[in-house]
Amino acid sequence: MTRRIVVAGGAGYIGSHVCVELLERGDALLIIDDFSNSHPEAVARIQELAKGDVELLKADMADETQRDMIINAVKAFGADGAVHLAGLKAVGESVAEPARYYRVNLGSALTLIAALEAADAKTIVFSSSATVYGEHNQNPVDENGANGPTNPYGRTKYFIEEMLKDIAHSDPEWRVVNLRYFNPVGAHPSGRIGEDPNGIPNNLFPFISQVAVGKREKLSVFGDDYPTRDGTGVRDYIHVADLARGHAAALDYLGTLSKGGATDINLGTGVGYSVLEAVAAFKRASNRDIPYEVTPRRDGDIAEIYANPKRAETLLGWRAEKSLEDMCADHWRWQSHNPDGYKS
Ligand code: WQD
Repeated sequence: MTRRIVVAGGAGYIGSHVCVELLERGDALLIIDDFSNSHPEAVARIQELAKGDVELLKADMADETQRDMIINAVKAFGADGAVHLAGLKAVGESVAEPARYYRVNLGSALTLIAALEAADAKTIVFSSSATVYGEHNQNPVDENGANGPTNPYGRTKYFIEEMLKDIAHSDPEWRVVNLRYFNPVGAHPSGRIGEDPNGIPNNLFPFISQVAVGKREKLSVFGDDYPTRDGTGVRDYIHVADLARGHAAALDYLGTLSKGGATDINLGTGVGYSVLEAVAAFKRASNRDIPYEVTPRRDGDIAEIYANPKRAETLLGWRAEKSLEDMCADHWRWQSHNPDGYKS
């Protein structure tokens, strides 16, 4: 039976890959996106890559004046559940504009929850983040790690996780998975969808990729004096295609539950790579030089974090399959075929 899934933020980097994965599994989709950090061309490419029933609603889920329209659209769509990826996601920006981050990220989540309740579709997979873990956890980090987000963006993720747990506690019909992504990178192997950040990339891989394609002169390596194997920051990079499979597996899992509840699940590989290891891998994949200079540490960065992915394997039957080489090769294919992203 075709599942009818709302994908909030479905035109975005992670969202577009989730949409392709769900369409390939036969789901019908309602994509809700305001295109503030995504592009309508991504929706066209999703439909190029995977046949299926796709409806699009251009709407700002944090805008109170659009709330009723969104609720009515989700009801009319006949939703069975949702994947919630819509929100602001720049750590540095969240420190500068915390009120905007709380208003947009929590407001969007509350609108989607109201819409799902109205549609009697109390199933949600929430795009959370490893940023909810503080810097005081022992690696590999499991889901019981102390929740100590160190920035407003991370706190919005943590608060939404807690809101969803409270809602599932108050109404056992709610079925919730909070997926804690580690560091999503890479692109669909076709090179047709990928990460297309606005302005100067905050994250490592899109910045490296833009250096490789000649859009940026050199990479700044934020510190090489961390207590790690080569002094640079270590992260658990996960291929966005693996991440998309994890979302589909989470929806499948929620469909098997005889009663409601809320579960936090890490999506990571369980392996950490340093900045310099990522640069070397990208050089091999792109056959391009990646000039860099070491600069002071970035405020808020931690030395090392990588996942314990055991729970995803046990509950979802999911594990990451793609290597760092796959991540670099696929990220590079997207970047080299689309030097200006979707505006290319
Ligand atoms: C990775 C490593 C940097 C850029 C953040 C959010 C997380 C998620 C992913 C949204 C670190 C180093 C980076 C650069 C560098 N965001 N770096 N030069 O900070 O681990 O995670 O983005 O979902 O929630 O917290 O990712 O890619 O910014 O940094 O040296 O130009 O690369 O110091 O060690 P991060 P990142």
